[in-house]
Amino acid sequence: MWGGRYASGPAAVMEDINVSIDFDKRLYRQDIAGSKAHVAMLAEQGIVSRDDEAAITKGLDQVLAEIEGGSFAFKRSLEDIHMNVEARLAEIIGAPAGRLHTARSRNDQVATDFRLWVRDAADGLDAQLKDLQKALAEKALAEAATVMPGFTHLQVAQPTTFGHHLMAYVEMVGRDRGRIADARRRLNESPLGAAALCGTSFPIDRHMTAKALGFDRPTANSLDSVADRDFVMEVLAAATITAVHLSRLAEEIVIWCSSPFSFVKLSDAFSTGSSIMPQKRNPDAAELVRAKVGRILGAFNAIVVVLKGLPLTYQKDMQEDKEPTMDALASLSLAIAATAGMVRDLEANAPVMKKAAGQGYSTATDLADWCVRSLGIPFRESHHIAARAVGLASEKGLPLHKLTLADMQTVDKRITADVFSVLSVAKSVASRVSYGGTAPKNVRAQAKRWLKKLG
Ligand code: ARG
Repeated sequence: MWGGRYASGPAAVMEDINVSIDFDKRLYRQDIAGSKAHVAMLAEQGIVSRDDEAAITKGLDQVLAEIEGGSFAFKRSLEDIHMNVEARLAEIIGAPAGRLHTARSRNDQVATDFRLWVRDAADGLDAQLKDLQKALAEKALAEAATVMPGFTHLQVAQPTTFGHHLMAYVEMVGRDRGRIADARRRLNESPLGAAALCGTSFPIDRHMTAKALGFDRPTANSLDSVADRDFVMEVLAAATITAVHLSRLAEEIVIWCSSPFSFVKLSDAFSTGSSIMPQKRNPDAAELVRAKVGRILGAFNAIVVVLKGLPLTYQKDMQEDKEPTMDALASLSLAIAATAGMVRDLEANAPVMKKAAGQGYSTATDLADWCVRSLGIPFRESHHIAARAVGLASEKGLPLHKLTLADMQTVDKRITADVFSVLSVAKSVASRVSYGGTAPKNVRAQAKRWLKKLG
């Protein structure tokens, strides 16, 4: 590949450590698109002839067809996708193929290809996350009034609704999409034409190639163009945060469908059985979604460590960016799809959730709030009154709303029968009408607002 100066080929192990075609073949579409944009620009600028441009473009189309048709023979001896495509082009069209690499290097080529690949992956993830938001918001609309316990410290805290809980994830996923979109905006500059590192003496038009490849503009500094991999780090950071969110929902699904909870039932389509225990319905998909964050964070970590302390500009270390990124983004894609599927199929067990919502004196805050509102007692003192009522109820082994008025009045004689109007879980959730609060009418409005926005 390198012409005259090399008398012998590489050692076998040199080829093994150096070769990247096994994974960077996945950049073939981006590589060919980049080459077509490059040669069109070279012809426009009079750097290659129109005849050569036509031959190269036609040849590249044939290479693309061969790869997509499965007849292309990838060669490890040619190291990577860039050399494989160019070598095959030379076989097909002969001498003009040699003009394609004018004013270009594999350094700007790989930076361009990988930006395009990551951009496509980011777009795919965004579409999937949007679909997940839809699945969550639709379920939330249907379950807006399904009372369930809200937890802090995994202790029953206050009654909320299943719909409100699902809408929390719609918000999280919305921010995840925002982070990915933000990273995409920054990555959308074209490194093509930075050449090896210093630019080129040929009169190229980098704006033309940038536009042809859907970039907003060319990158401004040639050294940065070939040395930068922040676009990978940013998308993986955003992917990691997304995966953390998915893992929290996955963990909740695991808890909710565990039999002591039995809040939800996962469909057969997303459960697996046990080879020994016939009664089992295991939430494997949720467990795997919960676990995927390990790989995704691992990829982010790998890239950060590869880049850390790396001198400018291109170093071969940077070839290590692809495998972890491709694995991580494919894992995330799978996790999103599985999550959307599980959410669509989830069946809420409303009676069980409602019963659980009433346990643990979850309306104690409502009692304290009632004392503030109806008796004009300061909240701190009301809190003590409610705590004494909880103590009494727990001594008697009763829920709060089963205490008698006489019981309540031993706690504080100012309490009237009206207090019982706020102690049920349904009343509690309906009363939480503050902006962003749990009240079913709020939840319905939020779910509808999102569904409209999601289209
Ligand atoms: N396969 C290489 C990579 O992925 C392409 C760039 C190689 N450039 C070079 N000068 N060796 O990073």
